[in-house]
Amino acid sequence: MEKVQAFIKDNRERFLEELFDLLRIPSISADPAYKEDVKRAAETVAEGMRKAGVDEVEVIPTAGHPIVFAQKAIDPSLPTILVYGHYDVQPPDPLNLWESGPFEPVIKKTKTHPDGAIYARGSCDDKGQFFMHVKAFEAMAATGSLPCNVKFMIEGEEEVGSDHLGEFCRQYKERLTADVILISDTSIIANDTPSITTGLRGLSYVEVEVTGPNRDLHSGVYGGAVANPINVLCEMIASLMDENYHITIPGFYDDVEDLSHAEREEMNKAPFNLGHYQEDLGIRTVRGEVGYTTLERTSIRPTLDVNGIWGGYTGEGAKTVLPAKAFAKISMRLVPNQDPDKITKLFSQHFRRIAPPSVKVEVRPHHGGKPAVTPTDTPEYQAAYRAMEQTFGKAPLPKREGGSIPIVALFEEVLGVKSVLMGFGLDSDAIHSPNEHYGLFNFYKGIETIPYYHKYYAELKQD
Ligand code: BES
Ligand code: MN
Ligand code: MN
Repeated sequence: MEKVQAFIKDNRERFLEELFDLLRIPSISADPAYKEDVKRAAETVAEGMRKAGVDEVEVIPTAGHPIVFAQKAIDPSLPTILVYGHYDVQPPDPLNLWESGPFEPVIKKTKTHPDGAIYARGSCDDKGQFFMHVKAFEAMAATGSLPCNVKFMIEGEEEVGSDHLGEFCRQYKERLTADVILISDTSIIANDTPSITTGLRGLSYVEVEVTGPNRDLHSGVYGGAVANPINVLCEMIASLMDENYHITIPGFYDDVEDLSHAEREEMNKAPFNLGHYQEDLGIRTVRGEVGYTTLERTSIRPTLDVNGIWGGYTGEGAKTVLPAKAFAKISMRLVPNQDPDKITKLFSQHFRRIAPPSVKVEVRPHHGGKPAVTPTDTPEYQAAYRAMEQTFGKAPLPKREGGSIPIVALFEEVLGVKSVLMGFGLDSDAIHSPNEHYGLFNFYKGIETIPYYHKYYAELKQD
């Protein structure tokens, strides 16, 4: 292990430069205009893996964006770790709020990251994080100290719902055989408080369209007599939650797993400072489902949020118009054992039912994903525990998180393999937001920790 860590130390600068090259490629999966860039990112990832010493590297096309699959088999009697990550990123909008170009990585020092942080779209989610695995692999390979077989599966459609990954997993089931799926695409509590993610929320995402009159109208001539679809949409959305911020869709909570008092007490022991949280976000006070703490509201409780709402006139100046249509995109974060398809159905039925006769309503489902929980009493989890304890000098805490990685449930279903969520980002790293960044501390800590994971996992599996 000394050789591995020395290799990492000696190559710190180069690792960072290589990551910068990857961050410069605008691999925005959501926007078809960037299709070629997404492909170029996949090829860059593949090339980087070849240079890092992975034997079999392939860029496999799908009906959407390609998947990079690679492996280094050492010995069939050793356990196999499959690393999953994504090289695609969210659109950088709104561009004017970025202090430097989203695809021009720079290092900046901040209060949270006094050693500096890498500012770029994808720096934390997820290029900077999966890249740690490539570099950790390189360090182990270069020093002849790989304790496990390694496979990589780095996809390009995570941010748009991983539409083609399920089929890919089924098709390549044999090649994807592994003992554990290792993912760095989540966060730790703080740089001095390591944690391992033990649960993720699921997702149901819908778009709604409310139609009133057959054309836009003069808001003076018709206003007051004809239902305004934007007003109606606002009323409908407002009614989806009661005064306790409890979601009113009938049946919505039917399958929600309630945690025991002891479990809730345990999770609320995790360090959390409400004052700092509010200050970081520039809000005077938090708000959410009555009876639950902020930690619970963002992990073990389901939510309903409008992600976008539009209609009518939003250009310069004022136009007096009573619009014909109004739209909204709505996400529902789900917890065990809610089923995204069932929730989407419940939403659609309810939303159509509450529509007043003055409008027509359409609900279009988007991608969804199942929630996931991971056990802690397994060699897979214990290896992560020991690895983090080793490099942080502090035992990591288990932590359920609010984000979603739908593929985790799918891996379990299709491949029968559980995932370990050993991420190194911080919640305050502004993923999906302007000025996304990733701490240098976090980047290097990840690269140092991963070889320990491989080592401890091999040892634990032998016992
Ligand atoms: N890496 C995130 C998920 C995440 C972030 C989990 C922070 C835990 C902590 C992932 O890239 C993501 O953004 N997922 C999407 C889901 C997808 C279906 C678009 C999400 O959570 O919105
Ligand atoms: Mn991610
Ligand atoms: Mn993301």
